[in-house]
Amino acid sequence: MLLPTYGSRPLMVERGEGCYLFDPNGRKYLDFITGIGVNALGYNHPAITAAIRDQAGLCVHTSNLHMHRYQEKLAERLAEWSGLDFVFLSNSGAEAMEAALKAARGLANKQGRRRHRIISLENSFHGRTAGALAITGQPKYRDPFAPLIPDVVFIPANDVGALEAAANEETIAIVTETIQGEGGIYPLENSFMEAIANQHGALWIADETQCGLGRTGERFAYQPHRPDIVVTAKPLAGGLPLGATMFSALAACGIDPGMHGTTFGGGPLACRVALAFLDETERLLPEIRRNGEYLHERLRELRHTLEIRGRGLMAGIQLAEPGEPFVRKARDAGLVINCTHGNVLRLLPPFIAGRAEIDQACSILAKVLSEAGASESSPLHCAEVSLSR
Ligand SMILES: Cc1ncc(COP(=O)(O)O)c(C=O)c1O
Repeated sequence: MLLPTYGSRPLMVERGEGCYLFDPNGRKYLDFITGIGVNALGYNHPAITAAIRDQAGLCVHTSNLHMHRYQEKLAERLAEWSGLDFVFLSNSGAEAMEAALKAARGLANKQGRRRHRIISLENSFHGRTAGALAITGQPKYRDPFAPLIPDVVFIPANDVGALEAAANEETIAIVTETIQGEGGIYPLENSFMEAIANQHGALWIADETQCGLGRTGERFAYQPHRPDIVVTAKPLAGGLPLGATMFSALAACGIDPGMHGTTFGGGPLACRVALAFLDETERLLPEIRRNGEYLHERLRELRHTLEIRGRGLMAGIQLAEPGEPFVRKARDAGLVINCTHGNVLRLLPPFIAGRAEIDQACSILAKVLSEAGASESSPLHCAEVSLSR
């Protein structure tokens, strides 16, 4: 029997096509959560399906004992996309973060540093492995597994004063999500990213697992800033598991040959599909920017909301009450979204969603929010939510 780690899952998925999912009875749903940001090119995308079909008939796995023709190519593309120098390929966001944390520790040890303070942000989410959990700023995930790795300090996002107070010569890394995803869609401010970049002696680890790889209409949401390490995964291989950690030349000194590895990570199937994903996404960036702006315009027209947050095709709708009932009603009306952090409806539409799909989603949301009779918001509420962050 499956370990019951997840709650009830009312939707049985049979297949997908473009922006839509179908259940076994043929009922169609507009998918605006895309497997939590993974199915970013929608379902059965011709470039992704062709790459999978072709490579499946050639070679799916080699292990890293052998080379194949797509791994180095993918590393070069990701280095170019991120502006960094070296790439480690793994299988998930949490694993990509583990590589980042190990590099920070490895570099600090090489530099002869005896203390290893890591600064992370309150409300953050970085994955479920023990290392990623240690830097996740939400007690509900951390506390059941305490004690975790020590010397992690959590500060509020966008608080430059708190950053400057927490950072000292012991600080080896500062970890951020450029837009906090699971924590409720909270973007970092430019001034805060600049302040992090100015903390010399500490590596800036940008976790772009949810907000990166085109979702905001940029290759990565942190751009034009430049972190030392970038962590990504989710949409990279079109639904196949693939994580990637990108390192500056300095950060890469933290991991020598033999110090880190993986059996599955960076296999030929996943890498080939990832190259197809990057090609397609590169082409779509201007549309993602345009459609992202349109999505946010339309969401701001919705009534019964406190605040709309996010950028591009990543949006959070802050409600005054729990979001789960609205998720259920939206699904009954043919729209799949999810609720995160209690009162936030999260939208991660596919990059191929255009105005027609955005209009469809917004009209379902408008109906669902009004039918459910959510309490009317006031400008005062909006101000309170903004200031509380
Ligand atoms: C920002 C961020 N980092 C890391 C992770 C963990 O990724 P995975 O579930 O692939 O391990 C997630 C997953 O939601 C995430 O949103």
